[in-house]
Amino acid sequence: MSERIPLLNSLRKKTLKKGISNSLIKKLLIFVSLAAIIITIVLQFLIIPPKSFPSERKKNFIFFVTDGTGPNYITMARNYKQFISNDYSQKLHLDEHLAGTSRTRSNSSWVTDSAAGATAFSCMLKTYNGAIGVNPFQNPCGTVLEAAKLAKYLTGLVVTTRITDATPAAFSAHVDYRSQEDQIAEQQIGNGMVDLMIGGGLQHFVSTGRKDGRNIIQELANDWTIANNASSFFDIYNSNISAKHNILPFISLFEMGDVPFQIDRENMEYDGPSLKEEAELALNLLHSSSENKKGFFLLIEGSRIDHCGHSNDAACIPREVMAFDEAFEYVKSFADKHPEEDFIMFSTSDHETGGMTLSRQLDSNYPDYVWFPEVIHKVKHSGQYMTKKLLTEENIDKDYIETKVMAEWMGIEDYTKQNVKEILTLIQQKDAGSLQDYINNLVSTRARIGFTTHGHSAVDVNTYVHANSESLLNYVLQNVRGNRENIEFGNLVVEFLGLNMTAANEFASEVNHGPLVFSTQQSSILSFDEYHKDI
Ligand SMILES: *[C@@H]1O[C@H](CO)[C@@H](O)[C@H](O)[C@H]1NC(C)=O
Ligand SMILES: *[C@@H]1O[C@H](CO)[C@@H](O)[C@H](O)[C@H]1NC(C)=O
Ligand SMILES: *[C@@H]1O[C@H](CO)[C@@H](O)[C@H](O)[C@H]1NC(C)=O
Ligand SMILES: *[C@@H]1O[C@H](CO)[C@@H](O)[C@H](O)[C@H]1NC(C)=O
Repeated sequence: MSERIPLLNSLRKKTLKKGISNSLIKKLLIFVSLAAIIITIVLQFLIIPPKSFPSERKKNFIFFVTDGTGPNYITMARNYKQFISNDYSQKLHLDEHLAGTSRTRSNSSWVTDSAAGATAFSCMLKTYNGAIGVNPFQNPCGTVLEAAKLAKYLTGLVVTTRITDATPAAFSAHVDYRSQEDQIAEQQIGNGMVDLMIGGGLQHFVSTGRKDGRNIIQELANDWTIANNASSFFDIYNSNISAKHNILPFISLFEMGDVPFQIDRENMEYDGPSLKEEAELALNLLHSSSENKKGFFLLIEGSRIDHCGHSNDAACIPREVMAFDEAFEYVKSFADKHPEEDFIMFSTSDHETGGMTLSRQLDSNYPDYVWFPEVIHKVKHSGQYMTKKLLTEENIDKDYIETKVMAEWMGIEDYTKQNVKEILTLIQQKDAGSLQDYINNLVSTRARIGFTTHGHSAVDVNTYVHANSESLLNYVLQNVRGNRENIEFGNLVVEFLGLNMTAANEFASEVNHGPLVFSTQQSSILSFDEYHKDI
């Protein structure tokens, strides 16, 4: 617009100088119309993004989800990073890539769950809380991952929770309720849409964890390369590139359930991979595969940031966000090292969890404007880890609480006798939920971190992008910049990779998605229990 106005002004001045005749007015009118047409065409090219990104090169799309991460979590992690490095100029890697925000409501509530949130990304539609790859009428909807596979791209899922949990499931399966995790596992390994899965959740693939007692790894994974423990993960991770050439499809579920929290893995003997190492192996396997003809679609989820929020565990949050941030930075460096291919990285969250705030009023006095990263920095374990220890170890007494729990694990010195007594009582009562809340609250009150819920909140979440060329980045930004609806982002995948969603919808319509044994009402209750069983 700023280009257009001076142009028109100078035109008007010229005609006035020459005086007015009829033919001149006609000529002028023709000239103005032509100019208007040309300007309109030029503006269209400038403002309206091209339908698809024109390129014959391999195209790779990495879709990141930070589960449960609101803008508040980003601030907390950045403050924490500045505190531990004693350098106020420190930023998160993500900070360089902020593009806008996303509105998160689902079809059934202002406050979405992860299932509806991820289905909004994968199917580009709003559905009810609990829905995995099905629309509000419980009809399966084709996902961008399926459309990518049908268009001969390679596909992968990388998570730190169970691979059957809501976010990865909504890209790779279709069931009416997120609690149908055994059924999700069958679809993921059996329907030929996923080439690579790395994370936790082996329990839903083997007889010891499945309700039907089947071992679907043995039954369905004949063609798969299987690395279902940490040492076989690292055997492949440490092998050279030529050895990685022919490994897909690849499954590495190195935990029965969730992968341990970052805060716990830093303070215990843990031999499993980090999210960054998972992402590293995934990129290398997909990229170097002999099957890689067009590029790949990869989902990478910082899954357990959400779990820190659910349990209102302040110390857990920044560690988990920073582990994701490291993984994002690694993928960025990988993309930038391959300028001969197109890479788009897009990152957002499904929702915020915990209604967390960086400051908290503790009594009726006017509060100080503070929060204390130093308090959470002293904490060595998640509330979940400490609670499990306290409920499984023998002979826990006052001394154990004082030296182990307060001093060693939480770095709290100003505890009261009453605090110790109450912890001992909750241990006696075997009340895991209340014990964990009590422990986490000892930390969050001292750090002045507030939580308003054990569930999710409706606040907008951030979006981040990176592309490995300037023109590609402009293309991406045109599609995501500003405040968007969560169902808009999948379209970027579809256009960039040139996908056919009709084909994906046809594929999905054949999938058996029904709940196996329970009714709608029962299953939503079940799904809540299932989701919170280890929190
Ligand atoms: C939910 O989906 C149904 C069916 O598409 C639609 O009629 C309704 O308006 C939607 N509700 C909201 C709140 O999005
Ligand atoms: C890991 O899995 C491999 C392959 O199944 C097996 O040979 C090995 O014993 C396992 N290692 C551990 C530590 O369980
Ligand atoms: C790399 O892999 C190839 C093929 O598996 C093998 O022949 C070669 O010895 C390996 N090189 C190294 C350095 O491990
Ligand atoms: C998309 O897929 C549908 C169903 O398989 C097919 O009929 C249609 O021709 C495809 N469209 C394009 C543009 O390839």
